[in-house]
Amino acid sequence: MNETYKNLFEKAVKASENAYAPYSEFKVGAALLCKDGTVYTGCNVENAAYPLGNCAERTAIFKAVSDGKREFEAIAIAGSSNDDMSAPCYPCGACRQVMAEFCDSNFKVILSDCVLTLGELLPYTFSL
Ligand code: THU
Repeated sequence: MNETYKNLFEKAVKASENAYAPYSEFKVGAALLCKDGTVYTGCNVENAAYPLGNCAERTAIFKAVSDGKREFEAIAIAGSSNDDMSAPCYPCGACRQVMAEFCDSNFKVILSDCVLTLGELLPYTFSL
């Protein structure tokens, strides 16, 4: 894995420290690299009304989009129920679909030990 992606993963790990996950106790952090070099981080934010919780990846993407960003290169994701972030935390289906709204199939998804493309994670994507 190249240094840029390693650094992005470290930012995701750091972002997971802000996770608000009192119900699942599963903390997730994400770091989204925009094509202009800007990085947006996000964490999961849960709610007592469970479906209202938001995943780390969508938090990062929505922060970026609400700041006017539209072009993204990669996202790193780190998640765990303990402090060991060495196991890959794959993005949920909803997050994959939100990635597909803004990113093409070559968008990179950085996990603890590998780099996947959005095309691998979500083939035959739904679009209007
Ligand atoms: N979670 C994420 O933040 N990202 C994912 O891709 C999968 C799951 C969060 C949601 C919830 O707060 C916790 O992990 C357990 O499902």
